[in-house]
Amino acid sequence: MTMTIPFHYFLTLLFAGALLTSQPSAFADAPLAGTAPAQWRVVWSDDPTTTATIAWSTKSAGRDHSVRFKAKDSDDGDATTLAESGRYTGGSFELYYHHSKLTDLRPGTAYEIQMISDTESSPVFYFVTASDTDREFSILHGGDSRSDRDARRRVNTMISEMAEASFDNDDPADDIIAFAHGGDYVVSGTKMELWSVWMSDHELTTMTDGRLLPIIPARGNHDKGKPFNKVFGFPDGDLNYYGISIGPKVRMVTLNSEISTAGDQATWLNEELSRSRANHRWLLAQYHRPVYPAVKEAGAGLKTWVPLFEKFDVDLVCEADGHNIKRTVPIRDGQLDQTGVVYIGEGGLGVPQRTPKTDRWFIQSPGMADQGHHVFVLTFGKDAMHGKCVLEGGKIRDEFTRQPR
Ligand SMILES: [Fe+2]
Repeated sequence: MTMTIPFHYFLTLLFAGALLTSQPSAFADAPLAGTAPAQWRVVWSDDPTTTATIAWSTKSAGRDHSVRFKAKDSDDGDATTLAESGRYTGGSFELYYHHSKLTDLRPGTAYEIQMISDTESSPVFYFVTASDTDREFSILHGGDSRSDRDARRRVNTMISEMAEASFDNDDPADDIIAFAHGGDYVVSGTKMELWSVWMSDHELTTMTDGRLLPIIPARGNHDKGKPFNKVFGFPDGDLNYYGISIGPKVRMVTLNSEISTAGDQATWLNEELSRSRANHRWLLAQYHRPVYPAVKEAGAGLKTWVPLFEKFDVDLVCEADGHNIKRTVPIRDGQLDQTGVVYIGEGGLGVPQRTPKTDRWFIQSPGMADQGHHVFVLTFGKDAMHGKCVLEGGKIRDEFTRQPR
């Protein structure tokens, strides 16, 4: 007996098929059930040429949690590393974290990874360590994903597509190898149920071939509380300022604008910039509260950090928090100066946008300000750094170039 499918069912199936094929990744929206690994993340907060933190969550506690990994194109056997596990604090929402810090990895190498919790395993993913050679590459920067979940999911899908497309050609310079997030992941950082949704949405950044894009996290004012350190695999009580070299020539310094910007952090920043300026072509900083804001008032870093950015000729500073798009003119001593520091931001990964105060002097042409969901692509060449602000939908809203110091 043959079955005929009514035409409108056919259309429905066709439409459902179109929806399925437009799904960005088979590795998204994993259900939280029992010990099934979900909410996969790769975090770069230590030397990314040799080290990465693999993090995931399970709904129930389980007993044995580990990561199985091996260099992708090698004959090495699988290695296994045990995870550090526990319950995320943050209200009554029950969820368990698992972190494995992989160390002694080979630079510029793809590693297959699989998260294992008791008898359940994640799909096999892979990520790529940063190269230790002086090659060109790109990273993404954005901030503020806290208050518009639909937009957050759309931007995450766009991030996955942009990263995947960057590997589909022979140009190494456009390869997007990491994603710096400038903070305000969720609206209330003490509520674990919000973090859980953010972490599940983060799965959308996974590429269709299972490649995970490492995240370089900064803490925002909405991210207060204990969950932040557990989400990103920092030790309890960690103050969340750190520097990493993404390869030999690019230094990314992440600061914490939500604790004292003076004192120990400023002392550390002075030493960090002094040490890293000498042997890096590109020196960047990221943190949450802007010091040259397009909407709000300047953060405390204006007094404590800016003199150090200028002293050590930081090449680009990435800010968030304002919920708009901006790029300042180069600034030194509080005025436009071609030798000065350029500040970009201010956050649009899933948050209602504000109207920038376009009369502020530092966003006049050749600077700019606007609004819209976006992510910045920063490309580190040998002769120049190129930046572009990509709006949701793919339109490029701004482009800029910086020369090496
Ligand atoms: Fe904020």
